Amino acid sequence: MDLPPGLTIGALDHVELPQVSAWAANEGWNPGLCDLDVAWALEPDAFLALRLRGEFIGVGTIFVHPPDYGFMGLFIVDPAHRGHGLGTKLWTYRRDLLMERVGHGGVIGMDGVFAMVPFYERGGFELAYRDLRMEGTARGLVDPDVVDLHVGRADAREANTDDLVSVDLARMVACDRSTFPVDRTGFLGLWLTRQGVHTVGIVEDSNIVAFATARPCQVGYKLGPVVADNPGLARRVVGTLLDRIDGHQVQWDIPEPNQAALSIASDHGLHESFGCARMYLGGVPDIDVDRLFGVTSFEFG
Ligand SMILES: CC(C)(COP(=O)(O)OP(=O)(O)OC[C@H]1O[C@@H](n2cnc3c(N)ncnc32)[C@H](O)[C@@H]1OP(=O)(O)O)[C@@H](O)C(=O)NCCC(=O)NCCS
Repeated sequence: MDLPPGLTIGALDHVELPQVSAWAANEGWNPGLCDLDVAWALEPDAFLALRLRGEFIGVGTIFVHPPDYGFMGLFIVDPAHRGHGLGTKLWTYRRDLLMERVGHGGVIGMDGVFAMVPFYERGGFELAYRDLRMEGTARGLVDPDVVDLHVGRADAREANTDDLVSVDLARMVACDRSTFPVDRTGFLGLWLTRQGVHTVGIVEDSNIVAFATARPCQVGYKLGPVVADNPGLARRVVGTLLDRIDGHQVQWDIPEPNQAALSIASDHGLHESFGCARMYLGGVPDIDVDRLFGVTSFEFG
């Protein structure tokens, strides 16, 4: 792609990650404390920096969930440089590179701010549905049959208490699988085991039929993923999870077609505070939105 003189797009340096977090925070996106670290650990090439005469002025991620699902996120240009067409250059470059990376037949997803839907449509994306952010103060309702899940962590195996269950990552992935376009074992392996994360679930006949995860963010916690075989199970895991983070601010991103999830959020006193348009390039994947009660992340899918 031809870029104007002085403008370059290339790899992000790891020391620049705090600037990315700061920009995201300034947009009010309240990034998870370890979200960028998880993505960086799995795929540092996903981070692209926009530079003007060497100055770092913008960022965007193109994260690949192998083998062929890509996700575009964290699209930010420093406020001082907006409105001059630079963001379009970065966005188009990222889209084209990600299309190459997911290959022929691959699909790219994104959660875009509503105001920019026409821009993304012009870039080839189609709107699937809205993801609504429900927010408030966590007030839990404990269900005695919901257990704390610790995924493949050594300390969980040693803990041996009634309310702490060690589960294989494969069983979490099995529960998650129909709600995501690809098997994301590697991603969940890091997402679910990092510092400060709470995951609760319901195990029936050694299968996980519902689980919900909360991760610490710059302010409070975000939920995601939240997966359940039916709304009753979802209500039970979310109620117990909110108890684990009782009193903290919580944000829960819900696919609007899952009205049951929105009802559960309202019943817990959460209100709509933000939202994104879930859009796809390459076709809308056949995921089971009725089982998807909470999006993992607007940045990484
Ligand atoms: C989005 C962003 C990266 C664009 O960077 P930029 O350098 O200003 O980009 P450009 O000047 O090339 O403009 C790109 C398009 O974004 C549109 N745009 C930017 N902000 C917009 C907004 N709040 N509402 C509607 N459109 C917007 C511009 O109108 C333009 O579309 P057009 O070509 O149809 O006129 C920048 O505005 C930004 O960092 N915004 C805050 C973070 C954000 O919202 N990111 C997008 C998340 S999906």
